Amino acid sequence: MNITNDLICQNLSIRDGRLYMGEHDVMALARIYGTPLYVMDEDRIRDRCRTYLDAVREAFGTQGGVYYASKACSFKQIYRIMSDMGMGIDVVSPGEIATAVKAGFDMSKACYHSNNKTDEDIRYALSMGVGVLAVDSEDELRAISTIASDMGRVQDIYLRITPGIDPHTYSAVATGKVDSKFGSAIETGQAMAITSLALTLPSINLIGYHCHVGSQVFDSEVYLATAGVMLDFIKEVKDTLSYTISRLDLGGGYGVRYTSLDPSIDIRQNILKVATFIKDKVASLGIDMPAIYFEPGRSIVADSGLTLYTVGSLKRIPGYKNYVSVDGGMTDNPRYALYSSRYTLLNLSRLTQDRDMLCSVVGRCCESGDIIQPDVYMPSTTSRGDIVACLTTGAYNYSMASNYNRVARPPVVMLRGNEHYLAVKRESWDCLHDLDV
Ligand SMILES: Cc1ncc(COP(=O)(O)O)c(C=O)c1O
Repeated sequence: MNITNDLICQNLSIRDGRLYMGEHDVMALARIYGTPLYVMDEDRIRDRCRTYLDAVREAFGTQGGVYYASKACSFKQIYRIMSDMGMGIDVVSPGEIATAVKAGFDMSKACYHSNNKTDEDIRYALSMGVGVLAVDSEDELRAISTIASDMGRVQDIYLRITPGIDPHTYSAVATGKVDSKFGSAIETGQAMAITSLALTLPSINLIGYHCHVGSQVFDSEVYLATAGVMLDFIKEVKDTLSYTISRLDLGGGYGVRYTSLDPSIDIRQNILKVATFIKDKVASLGIDMPAIYFEPGRSIVADSGLTLYTVGSLKRIPGYKNYVSVDGGMTDNPRYALYSSRYTLLNLSRLTQDRDMLCSVVGRCCESGDIIQPDVYMPSTTSRGDIVACLTTGAYNYSMASNYNRVARPPVVMLRGNEHYLAVKRESWDCLHDLDV
């Protein structure tokens, strides 16, 4: 097994038998900050933002934009980076709004999602000046209208539409996602009905449609199929209600490499392909070209990140299994437990040794499902004290972390050029019991 195949992220390299992320010896970071530790490469995040922004500008000129889906990873420094890069943000809770506000983000460049915004959430979002609310249902639409009217304003909104595309089987099962908990389906007539309602409400300004068909999508045809359905719907709305939407947000979802088996996606090529398709389709339908937005999360931050752990034990169960236990687990990375997600793990203390032992890398929680990754190869010399890295953990790891078993969440260290700095502190035990009365 050639280790270079496993350097699945562009910012990783091996020098003198040690793993580097950008200009940083990763083991040295474990020594300085301790483990478990999230490491995130700010330069890589900026690079990914630039790729999207440049591609959208090339494809759509000023009639388009990029919102970072901050559910992928949310803390103040991330919002500062997005602000600096000229990105919009997608937020899904008052907590994400509050964090972005605290970071000084211009909330007029934020879009607020969620399939259940309480009245309090809506009032808070409006009072913080959130630019667009993506409306999930008729109940929510009426609530936003009432609250906006009470506050003496007109609120820009998107309607979240379910185009009926299953990202993994879309050609065979074109209606696969109509039963999603999100949005209003075109197929059932609910998308037309909610559009019609939105146009009657005085405190609502309907500016666009939003859709998001899924995540970890590698097939570019999915986006063409989605755009096609949405543009057909825009045409239908124009014909039925004499109303033309000015924006179409195609959501996020582009895939990233978790293992060497995953392909790598050329974002620029994908966006240019979508743009060509959309322009042709708009021309053939005879509708106005909407401004096109994308909302990537994972593909902005995932491969900027890795997580470092210290090995506590190697347990061999003869004839059965080998377990490598580390000092983190489902509390800092629940994705295998939730979705059987694949990951690449490397023993950084023995990077040049043969990976000759099949094992499961497991966490420290009282839960047999606390598995970071089953069936990976590590050197059979793996021992207590070794440092193990789990790659591609920049998305949906810190943001999904929990305190199960009262395990404190790890800090986030960010890398910028030759510098490293703490972006999120290690949670202390005081943080854990501060809310207890
Ligand atoms: C509405 C919406 N937009 C964007 C995203 C981001 O998706 P991804 O991180 O796969 O790019 C999600 C993910 O769930 C989403 O629900």
